[in-house]
Amino acid sequence: MPRVEQTPIFTTGEAVEHLRQAVHTRAGNFYAMYSSVLGGIVTDPALMVLPLDDHMVHRGHAVFDTATLANGMLYQLDQHLERFLRSAEMARISPPFPREQMRQIIIDTAAASGHRDASVRYWLSAGPGGFALAPTECVGSSFYVMIFGAETYPESYYTEGIKVVTSRVPIKPPFFARVKSTNYLPNVLVVLEAKDRGADNGIFIDEHGMVAESSNMNVAFVTKNRVFRHPPFDAILSGITVLRIFQLARRLVERGELQDIVVADVAVEEGRAAAEMMLIGSSIKVAPVTQWDGQPIGDGKPGPIARKLLEMWYEDVRTASDQLVRVPYPEG
Ligand SMILES: Cc1ncc(COP(=O)(O)O)c(C=O)c1O
Repeated sequence: MPRVEQTPIFTTGEAVEHLRQAVHTRAGNFYAMYSSVLGGIVTDPALMVLPLDDHMVHRGHAVFDTATLANGMLYQLDQHLERFLRSAEMARISPPFPREQMRQIIIDTAAASGHRDASVRYWLSAGPGGFALAPTECVGSSFYVMIFGAETYPESYYTEGIKVVTSRVPIKPPFFARVKSTNYLPNVLVVLEAKDRGADNGIFIDEHGMVAESSNMNVAFVTKNRVFRHPPFDAILSGITVLRIFQLARRLVERGELQDIVVADVAVEEGRAAAEMMLIGSSIKVAPVTQWDGQPIGDGKPGPIARKLLEMWYEDVRTASDQLVRVPYPEG
């Protein structure tokens, strides 16, 4: 018989000590967390915890969103907050605070992190209260904010391009694809499947056989006639980044580098025949796809429109004052 170790029972002090010991090396990237359960901000990763009875944990009854902190400014915070509250409404979660209070908490948590470049993720949950299904037992909704250093994508994504495969993972039905809920199982599986198949990411195909989106990014194309193409948003997440990219791409239309921007169904065959394909989102920004299911897109090299849009995105983050919210860091 193998020896079975006895399970320790901790005092509160011992438990806190063990929480400290359980902090892993990657937690160095977790800079600050706000929790409405705690009622404030912590910077010790050992304390960045959630109650198990929070319905976000055991029922997935929660929504989230992610904004970017760049050069000490929150980029497109209000647009992300808007989508966040739309998701909360669809998930029937009433926020514990008015929007302005949540906005201020996000800004305060960013300031407490002391970091000028980071990811900013926040969650609204039905909240703690028990382990049943119905949220009627919840004592009140909860709000969490995390400021963290996200893993960056390899430089080769931008210099050589991304390889994608058509995913066999079923896409979420339209209603659930439009809510940014914490149920990201299909989105995780699409990445794992892509890696298994020697690619970087996968493309979801919708129930009508049209191009939908990628794991946590939108998918756009440039046709051989230089039309910027994107699927409509009725069965996918409405990407904050791609909506901004449409505005930036207008300048390329004015300069004659693009013919037009068309948001309408993209058939798989149209996508495969495109001159350029790209993934767009808060984490990846704009990155060229150069191979889809083993076949080259266009000439198999990163295209000029994806590169220009990425440059425009970086310029936007630096200079678009109407898209930026300054974080008031403490002196020093
Ligand atoms: C499923 C899905 N589609 C698209 C996006 C792109 O949205 P955004 O540009 O707001 O990051 C995301 C990321 O939030 C996502 O999770």
